[in-house]
Amino acid sequence: MYYRHAFHAGNFADVFKHLLLRELVRAMQRKPKPFLFLDTHAGRGRYDLALAEGGGRAPEWPDGIGRLWAAPGLPAPLADLVAAVREYNRRCGAEPGTLRFYPGSPVFAQLLARPDDRLALCELQPDEAAALDRESVYAQKARVYPVDGYGAPRAMLPPLERRALVLIDPPFEAADEMSRVAVAVEEALARSPAAVVAVWYPLSARVATAPLFRLLRERRLAPTLIAEFRVRADSAEAGLGGCGMAMINPPWQFDIAMRPVLAQLARLLALDAGASSKLDWLVPEAP
Ligand SMILES: C[S@@+](CC[C@H](N)C(=O)[O-])C[C@H]1O[C@@H](n2cnc3c(N)ncnc32)[C@H](O)[C@@H]1O
Repeated sequence: MYYRHAFHAGNFADVFKHLLLRELVRAMQRKPKPFLFLDTHAGRGRYDLALAEGGGRAPEWPDGIGRLWAAPGLPAPLADLVAAVREYNRRCGAEPGTLRFYPGSPVFAQLLARPDDRLALCELQPDEAAALDRESVYAQKARVYPVDGYGAPRAMLPPLERRALVLIDPPFEAADEMSRVAVAVEEALARSPAAVVAVWYPLSARVATAPLFRLLRERRLAPTLIAEFRVRADSAEAGLGGCGMAMINPPWQFDIAMRPVLAQLARLLALDAGASSKLDWLVPEAP
């Protein structure tokens, strides 16, 4: 049985990842020149939250997007994310005002894309890729590639547009997954040194960040920000309670803008007093 994202869709980790992704896309769009969005592990794009019910496991979205859906006084980036999900539900035909569908990263990016922004969406599992193909109707230049996303930086960079945002969001099922991520990051930066590259990872004893962090810290390839987010104290029994995003070549002052938003998100999604967030430089910008 291969990884399916449907069970996790809309959980705390998705909200954290998609909040940062949306803000990275918007920062790319501060310049008028179009860019390539490369999603190396795109998933199926649309998740029906009703399907996450049953199967003996509690669905995860109620403690993620579910907590934000009607929350008052959200900071603008979170309010905008919720508004995007509301609009997406409307377009998918959900009952007015109800949360039924959650968009994945390729759909969040399509919903923000300008006519000339190009989206290359890689998904290896054929049925997930076929579903994503059906869901790639929100942007003029979105194309699904049913290929191994780890090869995509080598195959698709540098882009014609000369500007790229790369999201690497693997399932982390294989033991060597972070080593493959590190190779993909190195290849991306070798071909497009100014590309913005975002890597999502779980905070789990099973997944060592060392191969990626070592590459970035020792080679000092590019300025790198690390965001980490926990909804509860670390516990081996309780399942995934935290995750992180390494952001290489982040936008100017992204840390200053996003630190308070992540802190508020940690308060909103907290499951116990161990909830926290941090946003620090692994490789600082040159002075
Ligand atoms: C964590 S999910 C992606 C979620 C998606 N990025 C989002 O935020 O909505 C990981 C996806 O990667 C796919 N996948 C696994 N190995 C892959 C590979 N080598 N290349 C491309 N896709 C892969 C899985 O089928 C799964 O859909």
